[in-house]
Amino acid sequence: MEIIDLIENNNNDDVINNKIYINYNNYWSKLWIYLKNIIQNNIIHNNRYVDPKLLFEIICKKECKDRVLNYDPIIKMLINNIEGDVIIDLGSGWGRYAVNLINNGIEKDIYALEYTTYGRNITQYFSYIMNNQIKSFFFNYYNPDFSMIEKNSDVFVYSTYSIEQIKNISIKVFLQILERFNKVKGFHLEPIGWQINNYHCSFNDNNDDNNDDNNDDDIKKDIIEKKRCIRVKYNTNLWSILQKLKNEKKIDILKVIKYFNGKGTLIIWKKYINT
Ligand SMILES: C[S@@+](CC[C@H](N)C(=O)[O-])C[C@H]1O[C@@H](n2cnc3c(N)ncnc32)[C@H](O)[C@@H]1O
Repeated sequence: MEIIDLIENNNNDDVINNKIYINYNNYWSKLWIYLKNIIQNNIIHNNRYVDPKLLFEIICKKECKDRVLNYDPIIKMLINNIEGDVIIDLGSGWGRYAVNLINNGIEKDIYALEYTTYGRNITQYFSYIMNNQIKSFFFNYYNPDFSMIEKNSDVFVYSTYSIEQIKNISIKVFLQILERFNKVKGFHLEPIGWQINNYHCSFNDNNDDNNDDNNDDDIKKDIIEKKRCIRVKYNTNLWSILQKLKNEKKIDILKVIKYFNGKGTLIIWKKYINT
């Protein structure tokens, strides 16, 4: 049980008094209490740590019964796109995807960058029982800092439903990534399909049917999603930022799949290499 105490003593590294911090910290802290109970019961009753894969399944099911069933396409898509030496998870929450990647045999270092203390606590616990492959660090989209990751690394950077939390993401986040690292592949699964006019989707792959001309259903879906995202103060500008970077020849956008996973739209891009 020492590890649990050790992690908890790290809690005073940041006191951020804003709504997101309070909401998500509360959210992940409930999961942390649940996780600790499982760990303690297992240590006491079986005198061993529970298998990380099993623990992961248990807390995924506890956290979101339905979404866990939809995991495979996202994980497969992530795994198929990984390039480079280092993986960066932006706004990693409690480490759901980082842990899932390791559970699926990925052996690279994963930097799980997260705002909340409790999110990082859970991630650190998983990392501890999974050979410390996940490096958990504080990260704030509003004041981005990637100095914990070696300069000029070749990186795969992804976000899943975290840029959604940032109403207007600053282009600085991307410029810092592009400046600091050598090769960069980006991957976002975010509810921003409504920001993209179907007309722009001509580079979609064959698996998706968004290349059709705009039809009424697509437009209706976009309108409903736009209203929802504006109501809950979700991101409104990720697509325009990526377009700006593309127009300035800083990135190439490789793939866009609108509503890939329900509300989540998938975008894959690469740092532009002038050949
Ligand atoms: C819906 S959760 C998604 C977590 C994780 N990516 C996943 O898919 O399970 C949104 C995450 O964004 C994080 N977040 C919110 N504001 C942030 C900020 N300013 N900087 C970094 N992360 C932030 C929250 O703490 C939370 O972990």
